[in-house]
This record gives sequence, structure tokens and C-alpha cells, in this order.
Amino acid sequence: MKIAIIGTGYVGLVSGTCFAAWGHHVVCVDIDSARIEALSRGEVAIFEPGLTNLVIANLESGHLRFTTDLESAVRGADIIFLAVGTPASNHDGDADLSYVFKAARQTALALSGPALIVTKSTVPVGTSERLEAVMRSVRADIEFEVASNPEFLREGSAIADFDKPDRVLIGCNSDRGRALLCALYQPLSDAGVPIIATTCRSAELTKYAANAFLATKITFINEMADLCEKVGANVDEIALGMGLDKRIGDAFLKAGPGYGGSCFPKDTVALLRTAQECGVSLRLVEETIASNTSRKRTLARRLSALLGEPVQSKKIAVLGLTFKAGTDDMRNAPSLTLINALQSAGAQVHAFDPRGMKNAHALLRDVTFSSSPYECAEDADAIVLMTDWQCLRNLDFKRLGATMNRRVLLDLRGVYDVDTLVTRYGFTVERVGYPVRRPPEERAIRINRRVIYIPPGTEVRNGTRNLFDTSFVRKSNANDRKELDHD
Ligand SMILES: NC(=O)c1ccc[n+]([C@@H]2O[C@H](COP(=O)([O-])OP(=O)(O)OC[C@H]3O[C@@H](n4cnc5c(N)ncnc54)[C@H](O)[C@@H]3O)[C@@H](O)[C@H]2O)c1
Repeated sequence: MKIAIIGTGYVGLVSGTCFAAWGHHVVCVDIDSARIEALSRGEVAIFEPGLTNLVIANLESGHLRFTTDLESAVRGADIIFLAVGTPASNHDGDADLSYVFKAARQTALALSGPALIVTKSTVPVGTSERLEAVMRSVRADIEFEVASNPEFLREGSAIADFDKPDRVLIGCNSDRGRALLCALYQPLSDAGVPIIATTCRSAELTKYAANAFLATKITFINEMADLCEKVGANVDEIALGMGLDKRIGDAFLKAGPGYGGSCFPKDTVALLRTAQECGVSLRLVEETIASNTSRKRTLARRLSALLGEPVQSKKIAVLGLTFKAGTDDMRNAPSLTLINALQSAGAQVHAFDPRGMKNAHALLRDVTFSSSPYECAEDADAIVLMTDWQCLRNLDFKRLGATMNRRVLLDLRGVYDVDTLVTRYGFTVERVGYPVRRPPEERAIRINRRVIYIPPGTEVRNGTRNLFDTSFVRKSNANDRKELDHD
């Protein structure tokens, strides 16, 4: 088939490249001419494992082409996919459909014969019908139809997800359009992937329902993690015990800093707006959004409680910035909320991410970006693990601890072995979903209602006067007898 993809971002580029790899002739269009020029040379600006090689292979085979010329791409195409962004609008968080409508209008004007236009972008229920009406208003002379084929790929495993999806949703109101999309996805149906044919409206709403459900599942386990921290239970054991129940399933039951990324935050809010417009209350979704937002906002306070003192003037090393591992996408990453809160409280933030620092640079101010986790943690008062990149899972904590000012770790992804960190390396550790663990020698004393944690190897001189004297705590380590900073 001849396929045009309008919008060559994470979804458009992966979809177009995979369709080309299936043997179709694909032209990917974008308004970003620098991106298109780079892609035409085989340079992929986004980080998605395996994508660059696949783009190069399909450029070389002649199945894939990139252009900014929408008109030439659309002319003669059997199927035209709209894969432009649908971000949250600044005004009320509803989906901003301006890119979709603009692309649809441009497409309508460029049509030269019958065509099937398919929304791959995530759009609110009813949008495909609205798009069709707008397109008809500018091109009444040509036969075309608008269908919905929402995309479920995940950044970080996008190619595998596209090639082996759990299902394909085809929302189409005509037999002809449905048959064309079924023919396109035949390699998948032949491989046993369920192809679900629905109306446009059902397909559009299914995408939002799926994302809202996953966001709710994450939020549920995060709230269980909060409870585990208080009652001394282990959230990973809870998740295992729940997840092995086939009615529940184990995916999205990993406690963490709260969901972020380019989809869940905007899609949950857009779903809520749709429901509100219809007078329907989606209380679960509402609570999910509220719980997740407050979780992300309290991360900085959590760190301050762990330190036992305000973060003002403290050096905090943030390891991992992207909203999840495997992508360079920084959109709505929880690290942004944490870093902004830390900076507002007067902390100095140093950060490291193996892939996300370029995008993070554009979104953050006054952050020192480091070239390695070890450089990032030098002289730090605490480390916060925000993203569970593989390279951050196996850190040398002896080396890290040796250069830190205080050995404090907030593990918001639940990847480190708390026992080892505490007993072998003398760290104070808070792992999401577990009570705080401090090294055995570390003692807590209370002065004027403030709790001060005294790290291992610290000598405390007795005597009332000394307790209120700022010099009462000294490191007994012979190499480093410096006063600890506290009031
Ligand atoms: N990113 C994901 O993991 C994911 C997964 C499933 C669904 N989705 C949905 O897919 C859609 C696209 O998401 P994305 O992450 O790929 O967005 P993106 O921002 O990475 O890419 C969108 C691209 O569209 C281009 N564009 C905008 N207007 C255009 C026009 N008139 N003509 C040509 N190009 C135009 C932009 O320049 C940009 O490159 C969204 O609706 C999103 O919700 C995303």
C-alpha cells in the first residue's frame, strides 16, 4: 500500500518505519524541516531502541521517505495517518486538537482522489466525526472517510510493541475502510494478534479508558506503598501477591514517584473533561489525577524528612530524569516536579541521565548536569533515584558513598537492596514502599523538637551544654574530623 503519515514524532516515526518494514511504501511528513532533513540522512533525533537501524534499512530499501511537503505525500496514498501531537491545552487541560485539525484541513486540501484518513493520535471521543465534517467543508468533491486506529506502543519498547501488539483497534464506520485497515494489519492478524473492529467512537474512547485504567493501577500501588511504609509491610510482596492473581495481572504494579510522561497525565485530564462536558462523574479518574499530582509534589518534602533537616543549601544528586527508562522523553517527567520543588526550597540540584539531559536542559534552569552518576553524587547530601535506567541499577555504592557529604538515598524506583546499602555501606535509605532504614550505629536525638540523625562513626559528647552547642557532633573518622552542619 501507499501510506502517508502526518507527524513524525515518537508515534508517527515508529509507525511509518514499521509499516515500511512490512513492505509498504511510506512517506512520513513533518513541519519540522530540520528533523525531516536529519531523518532523510538516517539520523534519528529521538532515542528509541532499534529505531535508527530500522529507519536506515528502510531508507536504503526505498520503502521509507521523509518530506515536509504534505501535498505530495498525500497524493495517491491509500491510507493517510494523522499522528500529530494532542497535548493538554494550557487553558483547561482538555486535549489541544489544533494540530490535528490543521493537519486534517491541509490533508483535505491536498487530496487528489478517494482516501482513508486515520487518526492515530489520541483524540477525544467524537473527534474523527468532527474531523470528517471539517474536511468535507473544504473538499466536498472527493470521496473519503475518517477512521480511528489508536496507538498503544510504549516509548522504550515501541518497535516490539508495534510489531507484536496485544491487540489492534480499528474504529471505522464503513465496511470499505474497515477492510482496508484489516488488510494493512494482516501480518499481525496472521500472527494471531486480535484485530478488534469497532465504531470510531468506541475506538477513541477505548484508548482513553485503557490509559486511565493503567494510571489508576499505578496510583493504587503507590497508595499501597504509602501504607506499607507506615505499617512495615513490603510493597513488592504486596504487588507480587496481587499481580499473580490473573484477574489483576502484574503489570503497572510497581510503586514509584508517580506517573508522568507524554500520555497518562494529559489523557486522564482530557477524559475527565469529556465526562464533565457530558455531565458524567468519573470519580476514580478524578481521584487518580489528584493523588498522583499530590504524590509528585510531596517528593521534595519526603527527602527533607529523610535528611532530618531542610534541603536549603543542600546538594542533591538526582539520578535519572526521563519519565521512565528507555526513552529520552522528558514530557511531564516527575523529576521536573521534584527538581522545581527542591530549587524552590533552596537546594542545589545536580543531575545525571544517560539519555535525557539534552531534553532536560531545555526544561530546567540552574541545574548542574553531570557526566556520570559518580560525578553527580560528589559532595552530595543525598541521592534521589528518579528513573530506573539499567546503568543506575548497578552502581558502586562504596565509591559513591566515599565522596558524598552524607550517605542518604531516596530510592523512588525500588531497585536497590536496602540491607546491603545500610549495613555494608552505611547509607540511610528510604525505598518507596518500605520504612526508612538507617545504619545500626546511626542514632537519632531530639533537640528543641527537631530530630537530628547522627551518622555512623560519629562521636557524641554527653552533657547538656554540649547538646545545644553546634559543635557537639563530630565525625570520629580520623581522616575527616569536620563538624557536621546543623543548628
Ligand atoms: N508518545 C507515545 O508514547 C504515544 C503512545 C500512544 C499514543 N500517542 C499519541 O500519539 C500522538 C502523537 O504523539 P507523539 O508522542 O508522537 O508526539 P510528538 O510530539 O513526538 O510528535 C508530533 C509531531 O507532529 C508534528 N506536526 C505537528 N503538526 C503537524 C502538521 N500539520 N503536519 C506535519 N507534522 C506536524 C510535530 O512537528 C511533531 O514532530 C499523540 O496524540 C499521543 O497522545 C503517543
